[in-house]
Amino acid sequence: MDDLKKPILPGKGKSDYERYLHTDDLLSLQKSPQEFLHPDELTFQVIHQSSELLLKAVAWELGRACALIEEGDFANVGRLMRRANQMLEYPISMLHVLETISPYDYHLIRAGLGHGSGLDSPGFLALLHIGPRLGEAFHTQLEKAGVEVDDVYRRHEELFGLHDVAERMLDFDERVHLFRFHHLKLAQRIIGGGVIGTMGTPVEVLHQRMEHLFYKDLWDVRNQITAGANAALEKSRMESGY
Ligand code: HEM
Repeated sequence: MDDLKKPILPGKGKSDYERYLHTDDLLSLQKSPQEFLHPDELTFQVIHQSSELLLKAVAWELGRACALIEEGDFANVGRLMRRANQMLEYPISMLHVLETISPYDYHLIRAGLGHGSGLDSPGFLALLHIGPRLGEAFHTQLEKAGVEVDDVYRRHEELFGLHDVAERMLDFDERVHLFRFHHLKLAQRIIGGGVIGTMGTPVEVLHQRMEHLFYKDLWDVRNQITAGANAALEKSRMESGY
């Protein structure tokens, strides 16, 4: 019988666990304690690196979901988008960990960032790339089915596949918005709302970027539905004399 403790995978590491996860490489991607500008720097780096990993996986799953929307396989789109949205919860909640860094301590760390800016985050840029592609694929399917966004909500039981995709897209849009909101609060809390970032971009710009939504039509349809319901209510009140 094989010795189950002996590694059988290729690569570095004493065990298959270490080899498969590349833990040697992964755990050497942070500065050493001798290099830290402040002891909080490990937390700062680990939170950022973990966020990048998660955002990479979110974008990957959304890319798979996009291909499935194009194929009209809505059941599996829902499954992958639920996964992606669940993963996106973590980069949002991890921002709160960084709120425990005190402003004076952060400035010691910040001095070592060069021109590093979240505007160059590969993970977040990947989300900004996949977001509109999901929207285009969804609208192509609406055209194919000969329906409009309002129909998806009015006839949601009949059109449950498209309805599920629309709602998962809304979940995604909401989470990107929440990421931006909590990140803005973090920046305001640590460096202040009225200062210039490392690339010369004011924190106020983060405020402006929060206005951005991928699927404005999915948000706006709610207004139309409510306006229609209010008008119907008003009409029935007028007719019944109340
Ligand atoms: C102490 C913590 C942090 C501070 C003070 C901070 C500050 C800032 C500032 C000032 C900007 C505006 C651009 C610039 O001037 O560089 C920015 C952008 C950004 N940062 Fe951070 N950040 C922090 C942590 C994080 C973390 C953990 C992530 C996770 C990946 C992140 C991702 C981003 C992204 C994606 C943008 C672009 C935002 C957008 O397009 O709306 N930041 N950050």
